[in-house]
Amino acid sequence: MEVIISTTPDEAGRLAADAISGLVRRRPEAVLGVATGSSPLIIYNELGRRVAQGSLSLANARAFLLDEYVGLPADHPQRYRNVIRGEFVDKVDIDPAQVFGPDGLAADLASACEAYERAIADAGGIDLQILGIGTDGHIAFNEPGSSLASRTRIKTLTSQTRSDNARFFGGNVEVVPQHCLTQGIGTILQARHILLVASGRGKAEAVHQLAEGPVSAMWPATALQLHPHVTVLLDTAAASRLQLASYYIGTYQGKPSWQGF
Ligand code: F6R
Repeated sequence: MEVIISTTPDEAGRLAADAISGLVRRRPEAVLGVATGSSPLIIYNELGRRVAQGSLSLANARAFLLDEYVGLPADHPQRYRNVIRGEFVDKVDIDPAQVFGPDGLAADLASACEAYERAIADAGGIDLQILGIGTDGHIAFNEPGSSLASRTRIKTLTSQTRSDNARFFGGNVEVVPQHCLTQGIGTILQARHILLVASGRGKAEAVHQLAEGPVSAMWPATALQLHPHVTVLLDTAAASRLQLASYYIGTYQGKPSWQGF
């Protein structure tokens, strides 16, 4: 796991966009895994800037969402398919028909989850997965206690996650859905490269556990320690609980230029 502590959000967004640009140059039809929430916005904005400038094209890329609320009406602004359209798809040149998410409105949710797993596999798997992290250590919506081998399925959100996300629902926790469909931890671990981005002191404990805690379902993000290619991009506040912060900083400063991401 490579931990990079950036001093500005712009720098973190640039580094993530560099990794994605490099991938798409090598493989224009790359499969991206996209997260919603606040954390990846710095990445999507930077990708949008590069596409507008003409230095990047995602025209042949495909994208899969991590998760979706169950039961939000098709036109609800917080339905993740709508969120990702506004925050990512509309900013770049990806074909909207090539952006997929689990169907939180399916009559048969279990079959929808199986179909989603098949769609990811049929696309050849995810080349680069963008992740945020919850204050309780969730990745996607794999809440504490999730199986580290889990696949896409229905989950119940914790009250902490619902209250963290109330800011997207006018501050009213009561209207934050209780259920979601989410890629499992086992699904996420199959992505070839995982890029997790976190900022702010509220994430510091979860980030400490992610990088330095024992692997445990109580902190689902710790499962990423089992993956061979994870890049963690942090601001100084999110990095403030790391025991090895100065080691990570020195390692990155001395990183050979040929090494890349
Ligand atoms: C969103 C997702 C969640 C968020 C996490 C952090 O698709 O899967 O795991 O990444 O809740 O959210 P923010 O970035 O809003 O703090």
